[in-house]
Amino acid sequence: MTSGNLLTDNPVLYEARFPDPDRLAGRWAEDCLRRYGAGPRVLDIGCGTGRDAAHLHGTGRTVVGADLSEAMLAYARAHHPGPEYVSADLRAFAFPQREFDAVVCLDSALLYCHTNDDLDGFLASCRRSLVPGGLLIAELRNGAFFLGRTKLLDTPSVSGFTWQGTAYTATTTLSVDRTAQLLRRIRVWTADDGSPPVEQRSAWRLLFPQELRYVLAAHGFEVIALYDGPGPRTEPVWRESGPAGETADGDRLHLIARLTA
Ligand SMILES: C[S@@+](CC[C@H](N)C(=O)[O-])C[C@H]1O[C@@H](n2cnc3c(N)ncnc32)[C@H](O)[C@@H]1O
Repeated sequence: MTSGNLLTDNPVLYEARFPDPDRLAGRWAEDCLRRYGAGPRVLDIGCGTGRDAAHLHGTGRTVVGADLSEAMLAYARAHHPGPEYVSADLRAFAFPQREFDAVVCLDSALLYCHTNDDLDGFLASCRRSLVPGGLLIAELRNGAFFLGRTKLLDTPSVSGFTWQGTAYTATTTLSVDRTAQLLRRIRVWTADDGSPPVEQRSAWRLLFPQELRYVLAAHGFEVIALYDGPGPRTEPVWRESGPAGETADGDRLHLIARLTA
């Protein structure tokens, strides 16, 4: 058994595991940017493989994609060219020579802010990087979704996918660390190509909608919208010009906030 993050370490597998052939996430982000009148300069923080950053670049925006994973950045430069890709930690970043009209942070990258200090660091960094009136657009798992849904916890679940003839199987166990307010995940990957199993331990912050509103306000952001769906990873899935939801009960949150202070 080795340790690591099979998907983040192998971006090609990440895209195979989470395909987005219609670029729904990028289209959703672009729709938000247009709807709320953002200018052209966008930072995609926690950009992963770069496919959303490249989509935004393709719509005419000037995009910087930033991530902490060198494997992701190398893949993004090779496979999703257009944006500038740089190494940055979303818990504390600064681009002294630049300012952005919007920061986007998709697919729960924000939940790698585990502590309140991390969250403060993220929002202070966004504030430093944005023009007045700039937008923060985020899509993330909803901590409130796990309240009372204990069937999702402490029992292994098995999923899998096949890529280039190799079948990959993930056995995932989720548990809640109530003290740290973290959703902890142990995932063991096996593959039928003879490679050793990979154990991956990770955690997401369990962030609740009202807590998110509170911390955003404390950092000078006005919440324009915060709802569970439809979004690029919800069922039913988001469609252009469809109405946004008004509840925050589902497993994803979609956040649009404006820097006012
Ligand atoms: C679930 S992936 C989402 C990637 C991309 N936003 C997307 O929607 O496809 C989370 C990403 O966050 C990155 N990440 C994790 N911790 C980070 C940190 N502290 N600073 C910057 N990026 C981080 C990972 O390397 C990974 O690429």
